[in-house]
Amino acid sequence: MNSNTEVAERDVQDTGGLKYSRTVDDLPGPKGLPLFGNQLQMRGSQWHVTLTNYIREYGPIYRLNAFGIPIVVVSDRAAIGSLLKDRPEGFERSRGLRVRMNELKVGGVFTAEGEDWRKQRKLVTGGLSVEVIRNFFPTMGNMTERMLQRWKAALANGKRVDLHRDLKALALEIIVGIAMGYDLDVVNDEDNALQHDLDSLMRRLASRGTSLYPYWRRFRLPVDRAADRSAHDVEQTVLRLINEARERMQQHPHLREDPTNMLEAMIVASEDPESDFSDQDLVSNAIASVVGGIDTTANSIAWMINLLAQNPFAAAKLAAEVDAVLGDARLSREWEQMKQFPYLDAAHNETQRLRSSTPFLGLLSKADCVVADTFIPKGMVIFMPTTFGDGLDDKHFPQHEQFLPERWIFEHKPQPEDDPSRKLFPFGGGQRLCPGRFLALIEVKMVVSMIMRNFELEFDSKAPPVQQVMTFFMGPSAVPVRLTSRA
Ligand code: HEM
Repeated sequence: MNSNTEVAERDVQDTGGLKYSRTVDDLPGPKGLPLFGNQLQMRGSQWHVTLTNYIREYGPIYRLNAFGIPIVVVSDRAAIGSLLKDRPEGFERSRGLRVRMNELKVGGVFTAEGEDWRKQRKLVTGGLSVEVIRNFFPTMGNMTERMLQRWKAALANGKRVDLHRDLKALALEIIVGIAMGYDLDVVNDEDNALQHDLDSLMRRLASRGTSLYPYWRRFRLPVDRAADRSAHDVEQTVLRLINEARERMQQHPHLREDPTNMLEAMIVASEDPESDFSDQDLVSNAIASVVGGIDTTANSIAWMINLLAQNPFAAAKLAAEVDAVLGDARLSREWEQMKQFPYLDAAHNETQRLRSSTPFLGLLSKADCVVADTFIPKGMVIFMPTTFGDGLDDKHFPQHEQFLPERWIFEHKPQPEDDPSRKLFPFGGGQRLCPGRFLALIEVKMVVSMIMRNFELEFDSKAPPVQQVMTFFMGPSAVPVRLTSRA
């Protein structure tokens, strides 16, 4: 355990060298139903909103109860930072999630623990290095251009662009392109088998996450059998793509020095005689990266477009920045431009603060410990908000409900205590910090700058209110934004 986890040493109780002044039973929390406890509040597509409201009601650490088993929710920033840092030794990912992901063979590094995690993590971070992303950048540009042409053609024919659907399709195309070295071309091939299989897996993962009872471990419904087939087919496809990449790398040996995607980089790593990566490691991490990279990024962009469309002042400022950087170009083709979008970066930070696609993380304590002055026994599940703790608190972000990218822009580097980025954890933290964050930021900049350079955003004020919908990740129920061509 790192020493920060054993916070305030108030010396009231002392068990096995741990000092604390309360136990989980002393914590406040909502009353539950007999037998179910708070289980029903923790289900459905709005559970993150409920847990966030409880933060305001019960404070920075509170207790829930799922079928009689206590769960702790911590939103104290220092405690969150310590918990995230104290992995893999002190805490691991909550088991329910790990088991569900492994059942569908989409776990990879995300569900690995201990030494196995260290090994897998090396493979993934190498595959998502700045060099690999930079080498992939022209392909990302081509994919974005394809979407731009599709939208222009739709508008020229008087059709409306379905942004919700298309942003997800583009995110899928980009992540499959980098993680598997395969061009799905969703724009021109809407019935692609790999896309269909990945969709089926994501849907199952989401629906099992909100199911009250894991029935699929007792009997299989047709949807579960379909998901099993999809898991098998995706695995076989990635194995085939690995073989094709190996052949390509034999014909073009420079790809070993300069891999153009994550799969090639992982193949190079696996050929190192010091490593013991199997093809199965490559497959599971390519799939885990796709699962981790589609909806997180697509939802972030969708939320940002919704927020910009409702905040014309911010949208105009962003459009001016994008025009100045891109000049006559319709989208970015220059890597260096990725550093020239401070307002876009700020709008993205503000989007994560207000509408995180991963609003809560769940950890399991591996030993007795103390968190925020509370004794936590081994095997306890702890939930923590990534951005909905301090991020939605007026003390830290005045007028917190407002979308104000300006709050992320400073003339001089702020003091640590005033730095808003130190108050939030949109990409997690510690050694398990999201390895795809740099890719996500580049993708957000590529796609949003293309949109702002070419289109006006018009929010449909007559549309029903946009809801936050939690499936496996949290996304908007709709993107009621009309695109029209900019002059
Ligand atoms: C805006 C987009 C994204 C957000 C908000 C996001 C957020 C997160 C968060 C909160 C975690 C948990 C970190 C922790 O436990 O401390 C995580 C882990 C992870 N993310 Fe992302 N992510 C995004 C994009 C991506 C992309 C594009 C990829 C893949 C290319 C990716 C792959 C992963 C993987 C593999 C892990 C597990 C890391 C580990 O357990 O060591 N993510 N992400």
